[in-house]
Amino acid sequence: MQPDSPLFQPFDLGALRLTSRIVMAPLTRNRAVDGNVPSPLAPTYYAQRAGAGLLITEATQVCPEGQGYPRTPGIHSAEQVAGWKKVTDAVHARGGRIFLQLWHVGRISHSSLQPGGRLPVAPSALRPSGSAVTFSGLLPFETPRALDTDELPGIVEQYRAGARNALAAGFDGVEVHGANGYLLDQFLRDSTNRRADAYGGTLENRARLLFEVLDAAISVWGAPRVGVRISPVSRFNDIRDNDPQATFDYVAARASALGLAYLHVLEGEPGADSAQLQPFDYARLRAAFAGPYIANCGYDRSRAMAAVAGGAADLIAFGKDFISNPDLVERLKRNAPLNPWDADTFYSGEEKGYIDYPPLAAAQAPL
Ligand SMILES: Cc1cc2nc3c(=O)[nH]c(=O)nc-3n(C[C@H](O)[C@H](O)[C@H](O)COP(=O)(O)O)c2cc1C
Repeated sequence: MQPDSPLFQPFDLGALRLTSRIVMAPLTRNRAVDGNVPSPLAPTYYAQRAGAGLLITEATQVCPEGQGYPRTPGIHSAEQVAGWKKVTDAVHARGGRIFLQLWHVGRISHSSLQPGGRLPVAPSALRPSGSAVTFSGLLPFETPRALDTDELPGIVEQYRAGARNALAAGFDGVEVHGANGYLLDQFLRDSTNRRADAYGGTLENRARLLFEVLDAAISVWGAPRVGVRISPVSRFNDIRDNDPQATFDYVAARASALGLAYLHVLEGEPGADSAQLQPFDYARLRAAFAGPYIANCGYDRSRAMAAVAGGAADLIAFGKDFISNPDLVERLKRNAPLNPWDADTFYSGEEKGYIDYPPLAAAQAPL
C-alpha cells in the first residue's frame, strides 16, 4: 500500500484543486436517449465515479453533423444542456470535478447518421478504410464531402456554442477532442488533409482549425479551463502522419503558449504493441508543453505511480478500469483488486455494464 505516492496527492489544475492526480478518461458509452440527450442513468454513472480527481465526459458532439455513432450525446440543444446539468449537479454533490469533451467526428460518420442523409464532412474527400457504426450495424465508410474554406468559421462557431452550452450545463471546463482520427485530427494529419487553402499544406495551416477551436473555447472559458487531447501515433480511424513528432511537438508548443489547463496525450494506441507503431518521444512532447500533462493508455497502478513520481506526467487518465471500477481511486490507494471490464457492454445497453459494477465491499477496513 502506498497511499502517500504523489499519484494520490491533490493537484492544482488552474484554479481547480483536484483530490488526486487520477483522471477518468473520456469514454463513449452510447446510451443517450431521444434527441441525443444524456441518459437518465448518466448522473448516477458519473456520480459513482466522482472520486476521480477529474472526470472527462464521453465525447459529445457540438452539432448534429458531428455525430458518428448511435446514441452519443450532444451539447447543441436546450434538452441536452438540461440533461448534462443533472450530471454536473450529481458529480458536484459528490465533490467531483468534470470537464466535457467537445467532439466533431468529421468523416468518421455515415449519411444515415447525418442531418438530411447528407454525406459526412472532412478536410478532404478521402474515404477512410473500415466501417461506420450505424443504427443498422456496420456499414462501409463513404467518401466524405470536403468542407469549403468559407464553412470553417461556422464549424468554429459550433465549437464555441458547445463550449457556451457546457458552461450553462455547469461543467468545470472543456476538453477539445483533437485525438483519435476525428475532425480536428483529420485536419492536423497529412494523410487526411490534402487541402490547398490556408487550412492545408504546412503544419501551421493544418493546425489552424484546432487552434481556432481552442481560441473559441478559451473565449468562453478562459485558458485555464480548457484542455486538449491528442493521440500522436494511434492509427484508430485510419489516420497517420508522416512525421507525428514534428506535428505534435508543434501542437504542444503552441498549446503551451496559450496557457491551457492541460495537454492530454494518448501515448500509443489502445491494444497495440508499441513496436507496431511509429516511434515517438513523449518526453520531448512533454518538454514542449509548459502546463500540466495528462498521460493515458494502458497505465496500471505501478506505472501510474512511477510516471507521476518520476515527473513523466502530472496526471494519469484511466479508461477501461474506470468503466468497471466506479471507486477506482480507492482501489488503487488500497492496492485492492480491480473488477474486470465487460467489453460487450461498452458501447450499448442500459444499466448493465454501466451503473452496476460493484464498489469495494463496504465492510473493508478503512485506510
Ligand atoms: C469504451 C471506450 C470508449 C472510448 N471513448 C472515448 C471518447 O469518447 N473520447 C476519447 O477521446 N477517447 C475514448 N476512448 C479512449 C479512452 O479514453 C482511452 O484513451 C483508452 O481506453 C486507453 O486508456 P486505458 O488503457 O486506460 O483504457 C474510449 C475507449 C473505450 C474503451
